[in-house]
Amino acid sequence: MPLVTTKEMFQKAYEGGYAIGAFNVNNMEIIQGITEAAKELNAPLILQVSSGARKYANHTYLTKLVEAAIIETDLPIALHLDHGDTFELCKSCIDGGFTSVMIDGSHHSYEENVALTTKVVEYAHARGVVVEAELGRLAGIEDDVNVSADDASYTDPEQVYDFVTRTGCDSLAIAIGTSHGAFKFKPGQKPQLRFDILEEIEKKLPGFPIVLHGASSVIPEYVEMINKFGGEMPDAIGIPEDMLRQAAKMAVCKINIDSDLRLAMTGTIRKYFAENPGHFDPRQYLSPARSAIKGMVEHKIKNVLGCDGKI
Ligand code: G3H
Ligand code: 13P
Ligand code: ZN
Repeated sequence: MPLVTTKEMFQKAYEGGYAIGAFNVNNMEIIQGITEAAKELNAPLILQVSSGARKYANHTYLTKLVEAAIIETDLPIALHLDHGDTFELCKSCIDGGFTSVMIDGSHHSYEENVALTTKVVEYAHARGVVVEAELGRLAGIEDDVNVSADDASYTDPEQVYDFVTRTGCDSLAIAIGTSHGAFKFKPGQKPQLRFDILEEIEKKLPGFPIVLHGASSVIPEYVEMINKFGGEMPDAIGIPEDMLRQAAKMAVCKINIDSDLRLAMTGTIRKYFAENPGHFDPRQYLSPARSAIKGMVEHKIKNVLGCDGKI
C-alpha cells in the first residue's frame, strides 16, 4: 500500500468519534515501535517529522524507513511535516514524497498567516497533498523556540470560518490549553482544557477536522522511571487522558504525541543502564526502549484515541 493522505482517515474519525494518533519520528526504533503497535491493533496512523527530526536523521533516511514500515505492516500511513514554518520547507517535503504538511503561521499576524497558508495550500493541492494550518498559539517548546504562557493565546472561534474558507486548508490546529513539552501545567494547577472553545469551533465548522498539538499525557510511569534513575523532572505534568478521549469524541481528529515517546524511550534506557551498567551494545538498550514505545502507543490507540480496528 502506498502512503495515504489524511482525508479519508479524518472523515471516518470525525464520523466515528475517534482520533488518529500523530506520532513524531526521529529514528528506526521509534518508527518500528509505533508501527508494530498500530499493526497489532489495526489502526490507521500518522507519522510526523519536524524540521529538527529532518536535520537530525535526514529526509531520505526518514522517508525510506517509513516506506520500509509500510512494506512490513501494509498499514495506511500518512507521512506529515510537523510545524513547517516556511513555504520552502513545505515545498521541499511535498516534492520529497510527504502526503501531508503543516504550515504553522501561528507566529505571524492573522493576515500573514492567511497569505502564507494559502500559498502552501495552492502548491500542495496541485500535487495531491493535504495541509494542516494553525490558528491561536500554544505555549511550550517547539524546535528550540520556547513560547511562554504569556505569549500563548487561545484560538478565537470568530476567526475560524474566515480562515478555513479563505485558505482552503484541510485541517486546523487550535489552542485550547494544551502545550508542547513535558511541563504543561504548573505544580498545584488543575489541568484544564477549554472545551467551550472547541464546541464553538465545531459549530462554526461542522464536519471539519480539528487537530490538537501538545497532547502528551506525560505518563507518570515513565516520569517516575526518569526520576528514579537519575533524572530531574519532578514537576512534569501532561493532559489527563480522559480529556483527550473527550476531545477525540468531538471534532478533534488528530492528536499529536511526541513527549510521551521521549519519556518512554529515555526512562527505559535510564532503567536499563542502572540495572546493566557494564553493557555497551546499543541493541541491548534500544530493544527494551522500542518495546516500551510499542506498549505506550498500544495504550494510546486503545484507551485514548479509540482508533483500534478502524482500518
Ligand atoms: O511540537 C514539536 C515536536 O515535539 C517536535 O519536536 O522540533 O524537537 O523535533 P522537535
Ligand atoms: P507533546 O509535546 O505534548 O508530545 O506535543 C507534540 C506535538 O504537538 C508535536 O507537534
Ligand atoms: Zn506541535
